[in-house]
Amino acid sequence: MKDLIKIINEEIKKAYVANGYDPTYAYISVSGFPDLADYQINTCFNLAKILKKNPLDVASEIASIIKDISIDGIKVFENVEPSKPGFVNLKINNLLLSTYMSEVVTDEKLGIDKVYISDNNLPKGILLDYGGANVAKPLHVGHLRVAVIGEALKRLYNRLSIKTIADVHLGDYGLQMGLVIEELKDEGKLQDFTISDLEIVYPKASLRAKGDKTKGIEPDIEFNSRAHESTKKLQDNIEPELSIWKKILEISIEDLKKRYAELNVSFDYYYGESTVKDIMGPMVDDFIKSGIAYESDGAYVIDVKEDTDKKEMPPCIVRKSDGAVLYATSDLATIKFREENFDVDEYVYVVDKRQSLHLEQCFRAAKIAGLVKGDKKLMHVAVGTMNGPDGKPFKSRDGGVVKLETLINEAKEKAKVALKENDRSIDESDIEKIAKIIAIAALKYGDLSNSPTRDYNFSIDKFLSFQGNTGPYILYTLVRIKSIYEKMSLGNVSTKKDVVVRSIQSGKVSFDSVIHKLLLKAIRYKDILLEAYKSYDPSVICKYIYELSNDFNSFYHEHSIINESDSEKKSFYIFILDIVDKIVRDALSILAIDVPDRM
Ligand code: ARG
Repeated sequence: MKDLIKIINEEIKKAYVANGYDPTYAYISVSGFPDLADYQINTCFNLAKILKKNPLDVASEIASIIKDISIDGIKVFENVEPSKPGFVNLKINNLLLSTYMSEVVTDEKLGIDKVYISDNNLPKGILLDYGGANVAKPLHVGHLRVAVIGEALKRLYNRLSIKTIADVHLGDYGLQMGLVIEELKDEGKLQDFTISDLEIVYPKASLRAKGDKTKGIEPDIEFNSRAHESTKKLQDNIEPELSIWKKILEISIEDLKKRYAELNVSFDYYYGESTVKDIMGPMVDDFIKSGIAYESDGAYVIDVKEDTDKKEMPPCIVRKSDGAVLYATSDLATIKFREENFDVDEYVYVVDKRQSLHLEQCFRAAKIAGLVKGDKKLMHVAVGTMNGPDGKPFKSRDGGVVKLETLINEAKEKAKVALKENDRSIDESDIEKIAKIIAIAALKYGDLSNSPTRDYNFSIDKFLSFQGNTGPYILYTLVRIKSIYEKMSLGNVSTKKDVVVRSIQSGKVSFDSVIHKLLLKAIRYKDILLEAYKSYDPSVICKYIYELSNDFNSFYHEHSIINESDSEKKSFYIFILDIVDKIVRDALSILAIDVPDRM
């Protein structure tokens, strides 16, 4: 479906041309003063300059030529008013808004179809690198944001008909693996270890290797050198290290899949740094041969500085002096691997912003080395930190990292309490299930409603509140609509365009400012998705559904929907419910947030 504002602009253009005005300036913009106008024409100043006329006079002329334009026999504007010093204030006709929305809600894709996509020139395919979990370590809160934001972007792309490839890019290589293997050997657990064993093994091994001055624990040098040896053997495909590692990988991935599933996050590929282990060596050799990488203090580096750099940009190290590869080498080889195996127009990395320099170096090196074709975009969505109440990165009480599982459980317990307070009639057996949906919605929404790049302070209580821009508030709006449907014995509502038009034409519906505002917002849903896409920012969608929910709740409080005795009015109210229900549900499916039946 074409965008309504686009359709209106086309009509305005026709009027300009017919009356001899330059059509370049024929478009309307959202008004900065919503109390005065919905939209405005603010280009009369440009026309006035060309025509050497007073802007207010031009505004009056323009007002008179667009006053009566119509679309399919429906007047476009309810009010057209020139205003000082040279604007035209516009109020869009409710009949037009409603008719358009009746088409939108009866369309399965809510109007975001082929026509709309091709009107907006979107790419065909995007590869997303997000999640970034590390093998043998449990998911911690630091992995929440990148997973949740990445998933939302993926679903947003899909919603806009952009094909996606989602790769978790596991941290499954390097010394951490050697450490785990050696610790498993020492504990005699090589035969049958489980994910719970791995969760204990990694912190133990890491403590042994690094030591802890505060606890008087010295680094275990012998253990360290064994871990290095093990890592090297792994890289050279030597047994039994290779098999042990494969088993660790298998167990970890199985567990990760479960944990991600709880968050409604899923990937097409569980590739990792190790996927490209055989590509790295020859790739670096090629860099050296072609002169792209040069020797510096025994290591090999690629210069990535640009003249316009304002901050320091150190060279990208691709091989250490002992011949070992680095994080950057695996990222570069991964780009090469992806280019060879997938056909996409853009790469989107949803990764902690503390890795910005690393990724910038890799992206530049990849371009210099010609690993990516042409001007393909490599984008880092630099994700900010989730801070604790003290404004510092979120930590557990003893200063350690907080496991995601712990966080979800804590939120769930609190949700249970809130739930019982809110609806005493919910069955005990349902509470567990619903509390989990609410807890995860609260955590995810709390995260997504902050722009990815922003740091934010985590507060379970705030996120779980049934008021404000929170997950529970949005869910509650939908549950409220569902319960109205139920009270009216409506089942699943499906608005019929002719019913809506008839109800409006009956003249009984009064389009008060609440309804008008809601309709105006509703026609913008497509734009909002596009804006979120362009800014790589799901919080745009959150803000929008929050406002729409607010509009709906005002509507709900001001109209007696269930007890309305006039059938035309009632049909129209149901249409309004349907609009909000469909849009908010659609948006939540993009944000990968489930909706409970009641709460
Ligand atoms: N595993 C890494 C970490 O936990 C994140 C990986 C991000 N993706 C990438 N292509 N470097 O820090």
